[in-house]
Amino acid sequence: MAEFDYDVLVIGAGPGGYVAAIRAAQLGLKTACAESRETLGGTCLNVGCIPSKALLHASELYEEAAGGALAKLGVRIDKMSLDLDTMQGQRKDAVKGLTGGIGFLFKKNKVDWLKGLASFTGANTVEVAGKAVTAKNIVIATGSSVMPLPGVEVDNRKGLIVDSTGALELEKVPDHLVVIGGGVIGLELGSVWRRLGAKVTVVEYLDQILPGMDGEVRKEANKIFKKQGFEYRLGTKVTGAQAGKKGVTLTVEPAAGGEAETIEADVVLVSIGRRPNTEGLGLDKIGLELNGRGQIETDHDFATKVPGVWAIGDVIPGPMLAHKAEDEGIAVAENIAGLTGIVNHDVIPSVVYTSPEIAGVGLTEEAAKERGAVKVGKFPMLANSRAKTNHEPDGFVKVIADAETDKVLGVWIIASVAGTMIAQAAQAMEFGASSEDIAYTCHAHPTHSEAIKEAAMAVTGKPIHM
Ligand code: FAD
Ligand code: NAI
Repeated sequence: MAEFDYDVLVIGAGPGGYVAAIRAAQLGLKTACAESRETLGGTCLNVGCIPSKALLHASELYEEAAGGALAKLGVRIDKMSLDLDTMQGQRKDAVKGLTGGIGFLFKKNKVDWLKGLASFTGANTVEVAGKAVTAKNIVIATGSSVMPLPGVEVDNRKGLIVDSTGALELEKVPDHLVVIGGGVIGLELGSVWRRLGAKVTVVEYLDQILPGMDGEVRKEANKIFKKQGFEYRLGTKVTGAQAGKKGVTLTVEPAAGGEAETIEADVVLVSIGRRPNTEGLGLDKIGLELNGRGQIETDHDFATKVPGVWAIGDVIPGPMLAHKAEDEGIAVAENIAGLTGIVNHDVIPSVVYTSPEIAGVGLTEEAAKERGAVKVGKFPMLANSRAKTNHEPDGFVKVIADAETDKVLGVWIIASVAGTMIAQAAQAMEFGASSEDIAYTCHAHPTHSEAIKEAAMAVTGKPIHM
């Protein structure tokens, strides 16, 4: 009889966990995945990446029709209206299709889904739904959940003070949506409801939105969103919220201290970040401690300090992104199987799926300058033939290269399809490209991607179309 029930047991079936489980099974390891949700796919497929993009796509089309952008192209829709039920229905269909797809992949790859909450009882044993399961290797992929804000209590069922999950499920367009936190969730979900008719006010603690992104990109994004109708209260903190029958009264004051005032909202979205899920996991039973940010630390192989216990995704340090979790899932399975699984954390793209999209990979200009001299090339989307033809003039591409070696250190893009464009920058950086390598790569015409080539040309001062 085998010493353990499984070679690999993964806790959590988000993009990190389900990918790790499938890869482990593909490599011939007997694998199970414990997941307490009713459906597989984790935050990303159930209440994150996928449903938010379903609403972003639909609301963008609605705004193009309602705001007259389609009419300018000669596409007249004389009678149009918002059918929010149908829009929400297609969001649910997208989630159902994709989460069901993971179930199919588990069956195909012979991954056992253990339904229920898993908790360690020993380094090689967890209890799932009252049953002890043993495994030679256990991968913690429990993800993250919404960071609470003291004094502002989320209640998604009431739909007045909501988190991202509640904001995806609103049954009616609020007249005034106040978003606490000008980060990725606030701007994406704020965009959805603004496009559908809400007035949206963003209350941000810092003096600029989108912390962590390139400074120039943050400023430009701020300008573009303001033009779209977003209102900002920067350098402002929320100190309390009172939910009444019909709305919410928020108390705010300057972040630096000062006089308090109130803001009336129909709905308040709390989006001030996420924190790792480790509660109830029984980490104390295996002597695994958390770092100061509540995360599980690992080495480059994603092994924790406890032999046989590994961790990946939002629960470990690094950006909380689905593709980072997925790549770590593949790498950890390969390391468990005795292969060499590596993730290059210096080249992880990030995308904000607003309109225009905002994307970046590598260092910001500020961070690059701290390390040494840099050369920067910029090219505006206004001068890109495809963007101009498509009436998408906003944004630019910025390429940051080492002043001495010309190696590309970072690329930042604001453009309608920045999320698609950033892939080539990530690939170039993964291959150690110089800005000259990009500048001398033939790009198809007319494409938005030509702006990356021209920005790379601008690093040494010679774009053609500027
Ligand atoms: P998760 O996806 O959080 O999955 C963890 C799973 O573990 C959950 O299903 C949970 O139920 C389960 N679990 C936890 N504890 C236990 C336990 N003890 N036993 C059993 N099961 C357990 N990222 C992007 O890259 N692109 C995007 O466009 C994007 N959009 C987002 C939009 C929103 C609104 C949100 C909230 C997030 C978004 N993200 C996006 C972030 C992305 O969802 C996460 O980075 C990603 O899901 C992390 O994957 P994970 O596998 O680490 O964890
Ligand atoms: P975030 O970290 O992106 O932004 C939070 C914002 O809230 C920051 O600007 C911060 O300064 C501000 N803030 C913090 N405390 C505050 C307070 N008390 N009052 C006012 N403002 C305050 O976090 P967000 O938007 O909640 O998203 C969580 C994570 O989910 C993201 O960091 C990202 O990793 C992931 N995500 C990724 C998406 C994507 O890749 N497109 C989309 C949505 C989420």
